[in-house]
Amino acid sequence: MDKLQNISHVYRGLLERSRAFASFKEEELNIIYSDLSQYLLPNDTIFDPMSGYGGGMLFLGKKGYKTTNIEINPPSYFWQILINPQNTTAIIKIIKKLQNKATILPIIKDTFSLTDELFSDAAINHIQELFNLIFKSSNNNKSLSIALLLPFVSRFANYVKSPTNITHFKQGGLCSYLDWEQDFYSYLDILCTRLSQDFDTYKQIEHDNILADIFQTDLQREHSFFVTSPPYPNYRDYSKLFKIENYVLDNVILKNKTDFEMMIGSNNVSGKTFGTIHSEKANKFLSELLIKADKIKAKNKKSCSDIKTYYHPYFAQYFYNIQEAYIKLDSMLTDNAIGYIVVNDNITRDIIVPVGASICDIFNNIGYNTIDLDTVQISHYGNIGRAATIMNSKHTRHIIKVWKIK
Ligand SMILES: C[S@@+](CC[C@H](N)C(=O)[O-])C[C@H]1O[C@@H](n2cnc3c(N)ncnc32)[C@H](O)[C@@H]1O
Repeated sequence: MDKLQNISHVYRGLLERSRAFASFKEEELNIIYSDLSQYLLPNDTIFDPMSGYGGGMLFLGKKGYKTTNIEINPPSYFWQILINPQNTTAIIKIIKKLQNKATILPIIKDTFSLTDELFSDAAINHIQELFNLIFKSSNNNKSLSIALLLPFVSRFANYVKSPTNITHFKQGGLCSYLDWEQDFYSYLDILCTRLSQDFDTYKQIEHDNILADIFQTDLQREHSFFVTSPPYPNYRDYSKLFKIENYVLDNVILKNKTDFEMMIGSNNVSGKTFGTIHSEKANKFLSELLIKADKIKAKNKKSCSDIKTYYHPYFAQYFYNIQEAYIKLDSMLTDNAIGYIVVNDNITRDIIVPVGASICDIFNNIGYNTIDLDTVQISHYGNIGRAATIMNSKHTRHIIKVWKIK
């Protein structure tokens, strides 16, 4: 039986396969590493300014390199804290304390709940008590306690997940709390095994994880290498990928709401403005989108208006934000920096979204050489609506290498 079946599919993916939506693939990191390794010296540090679940840290730490990781989405950041090998000994200690028979888990009085909310009041109180217990067992280490609790909180949530859209959770419904203790112990067992196995394969345990918006961050030192992957422009609200966990952080544990305004790729375009986009490829795409809107105007007024009022501003904002984020990244690098970017071009309204080519434009414009190290065509199923055509489920994955022109 799948012992993690009662927790969210995002964490199941992370716990079982070290992967979730938009993670680096091992093969991509292998391609990057076969090139990057020729420049690296022992003890070098590699930077990821939008580091997600810390796929780069996991891979490069095992190769013997330090990493610096910035991430805006708190649950992704706390996952990094959980898998950072520097924390493994302390986390395993907390797990052992929780597994000890002398530790009494809090009791949730109800056996089930039915509500329109994400959590019942009983569940909220219970999560708070469980957090207090973990916090005490950690000798009051808040960050490690949050990291340990967060993957499990969906066990108490009332929600329905969409079979086709990973960022879509409908809140409300039935939640049974029966046997949650067994599920908690299974989670702790699986996590403990996973962390111990990872720990043995890490060759470098020094990694920095920073919870921040890249636009608002300045580092103490400049980096000479970076490996990163930008968010996809696919109209998803990325904060919703962790809707349950962000709810718990905002309302139960941290009680200070994260500002997701600058989360690149998210689908909120209303009322936002953007500046000049310098990439020729991005501008050509944006014009094609408007031409398409005019072409279909007579036949399909609604689609035409969707493009003009939603898709066009969405992509303009995406390309502008990516441009500004990489200009900011450049300011954090040395003047002989080398970087690798894993990027996907998807298709919208039957037009290819030239993310890879635009990123090359962005780096060329700020004084870098660029090459496409590797390109593959990928069809992905299961993560899109049934109505989407096969055409729209195809994308091209590029690995772009950039290096500063001296
Ligand atoms: C494609 S994912 C990176 C996944 C990562 N390569 C991995 O394997 O785990 C892109 C990440 O950029 C983050 N992001 C978006 N806007 C950001 C910003 N303004 N500052 C920092 N991170 C941001 C998103 O939250 C997301 O986790």
